[in-house]
Amino acid sequence: MDLKKILLVKKDIKDCTTCDSGLSQTFGSIGLIILGVGAILGAGIFVVTGLAAAVAGPSIIFSFSAAAFVCVMVALCFAEMASIITVTGGSYTYTQFSLGEIWAWIVGWSVVLQIIITGATVAIGWSSYFTGLMVSLNINFPNLISQYTTMINLPALIIVALLTGVVLMGARSSKRVNNVIVIIKLAVVIIFVLMGIKYVNTANYIPFMPNGINSVFQGAAMVFFAYLGFEAVATSSEEAINPQKSIPKGIIGSLVLCAVLYILVVIIMTGMVKYSEYSGVAAPVQYALNAVGANWIMTIVTIGIMAGLTTVILVNLYIIPRVIYSMSRDGLLPSKLSHINTKYKVPIIPIIISGVLIGIIASFVPLGSVFELANIAALTAFIFVAIGIINLRRTCPDVPRKFKCPLVPVLPLITIVICLVLILELKLSTILYFSIWTVLGLTIYFGYKCYKLKKVTD
Ligand code: ALA
Repeated sequence: MDLKKILLVKKDIKDCTTCDSGLSQTFGSIGLIILGVGAILGAGIFVVTGLAAAVAGPSIIFSFSAAAFVCVMVALCFAEMASIITVTGGSYTYTQFSLGEIWAWIVGWSVVLQIIITGATVAIGWSSYFTGLMVSLNINFPNLISQYTTMINLPALIIVALLTGVVLMGARSSKRVNNVIVIIKLAVVIIFVLMGIKYVNTANYIPFMPNGINSVFQGAAMVFFAYLGFEAVATSSEEAINPQKSIPKGIIGSLVLCAVLYILVVIIMTGMVKYSEYSGVAAPVQYALNAVGANWIMTIVTIGIMAGLTTVILVNLYIIPRVIYSMSRDGLLPSKLSHINTKYKVPIIPIIISGVLIGIIASFVPLGSVFELANIAALTAFIFVAIGIINLRRTCPDVPRKFKCPLVPVLPLITIVICLVLILELKLSTILYFSIWTVLGLTIYFGYKCYKLKKVTD
């Protein structure tokens, strides 16, 4: 096997708009913004906020702003890529065209991990909220089936199975379900903000930065998870109408909308209750409402939160098969994985594989803080996209760009440095697990390459 040849395999930028997939063009700009909001607004704000508030205090407002700032820089890089490359697959495909196959494999392999972990983590969160809601309605589930620690997390398995069914029915049905649920979750967030203002006690903002400036960055690394999902928009290029314009709008629009809502929510949340009370609280929105005696709205808010978590699972189930599909179409995975069903116009086998993987992990594995693996995987993909932007500007300066990332190469370089700093803020075990995952991926890559090469020479 000629290693040098493998390292240099790269797609020709001339093919970056060639799509003959048979996927159906479903999403306009607004649809893509809603898809992005569907993927973004979820466990990050409804679960992680409380844990991060206990670390950074009211200055978690800065943590959310800092994380948003980094994500906007990444989003600008994604937007330029999306305005050039309209082949489906998101960061994986961008890396194929900008840096080459082996780097693209690393990115695709990371994205698969990110999405499996996110989908499973959020499904477990969904299950906790669901069982909590049932208990509040006096319907008790036996622990045996509602907690992964005992036997099987049945609610998590059922929600993943149902949403896999929705995704199998095509982009149009995913879009419809996502649109309705996103409206519900947006309404609940807005109700929380409007209602919460009444209960804000400015004394709760003091001290504003109880644990120093470092805690703001620690908080930012934690809440980074809350913003993941804007890149989901980029994986649906071949299902977007006028993708060179609509995808950049979808990425930036959904991210900015969620950032504004997040910052409003944390301003209200830290004003309602003293930050120290959030320590170890996994349902901070309910906790805040309970603390100020606004119990009457709890059921509505819980349903809204479950809606939020539902779309995150849905959109993650929607993205991962598209990445697997693209990798298979490029010959990096077996060709069966890129077969598009003619009736529903979706890649059926990757969807089923994704649903089964996420379902099994959500049902049987105690994930805990493994959600950090999603952060490191996403940050890795972001670094490659930023490097890709610099490289494409150098190697293909004349390729038409409907959107130009400002201040290249400075902005992508800063993005790369910040992403690296955020990776180093994560737990050592997270970095170790991720390294093992990457080595496993590279072994599969070279193994499959050898197998294909042998088949050709035989
Ligand atoms: N941003 C997504 C969430 O917070 C992953 O659930």
